[in-house]
Amino acid sequence: MGVLTKEFFARFNINEKHDIFFETGTYNGVAILNLLKNNDIFEEYHSVEIDSARFQKCSGLFSNNSRVKLYKGDSADILKNNLSNSEYDDKKIFFWLDAHWMGDSGEQGTTHCPLLDELESIKQLNIKPTIVIDDLFFMLNRDDPRYQNPEDGSKLHNAKHWPILDEIKTKIYEINPDYEIQLSLIEGREDYLIAK
Ligand SMILES: C[S@@+](CC[C@H](N)C(=O)[O-])C[C@H]1O[C@@H](n2cnc3c(N)ncnc32)[C@H](O)[C@@H]1O
Repeated sequence: MGVLTKEFFARFNINEKHDIFFETGTYNGVAILNLLKNNDIFEEYHSVEIDSARFQKCSGLFSNNSRVKLYKGDSADILKNNLSNSEYDDKKIFFWLDAHWMGDSGEQGTTHCPLLDELESIKQLNIKPTIVIDDLFFMLNRDDPRYQNPEDGSKLHNAKHWPILDEIKTKIYEINPDYEIQLSLIEGREDYLIAK
C-alpha cells in the first residue's frame, strides 16, 4: 500500500545515490513510473513479476526506456539467478520487496508471500543493500479475516504462507547483523519495514 515519494526518502534519510532500484512484484509498473518522474536517486530500475499479463503490459510500458529492466518469474529465483553475478558486487542496491498474493493474480508462486526466500537470495549476494518491505500489515495481521479473501476458495489467503515479524528480522540480521530496522505503520496509509 506504500508509495515511494520524495517525502519517504527524506523521512528515512535515504538521500544518497543508489545504482539500482530492485522491485519484487511489478504489478502495473506504477512504482517505477513514479520514481522516474519524481526522483533522481537511481540509475537503473529492475523489477520482477510472476504474472504473465502484468509482465507483458509493463514490458510495453517501459519498452523505450533502457534504464528499466523487467524480469518474468518467481522473485526469489530471479534474485538468486540474475543478481548473483560479480558485476553487482560493488553496486549500491535498494530493494523494494513487494511481491505477494493479491487475490486476483492469474499466476502465483509456490507461496503467497516469497519474502523469506527473497531475503535468503539477497543474503547469498554478500552485500548490505537498503531493504524496504511493503505491505507489512499482511504479515502482522496474517490471521485477521480483513486481510484474507473468503469469497473465492481457489485464491484463499493462506495465513501460514506469510512470515511473522521475528522471522523477517532474523533473516535480515543473517544478511548483516549491523542492519538498523525501522517500522512505519500507519493504518490505511503505509506499512513499511526499512532496513539500512
Ligand atoms: C502489491 S503488488 C506490487 C505493487 C508494486 N510493487 C507497486 O509498488 O506498485 C504484488 C505483485 O506481486 C506479484 N507476485 C506475487 N508473487 C510473486 C512472486 N513469487 N514473484 C514475483 N511476483 C510475484 C503479483 O502478481 C502482484 O503483481
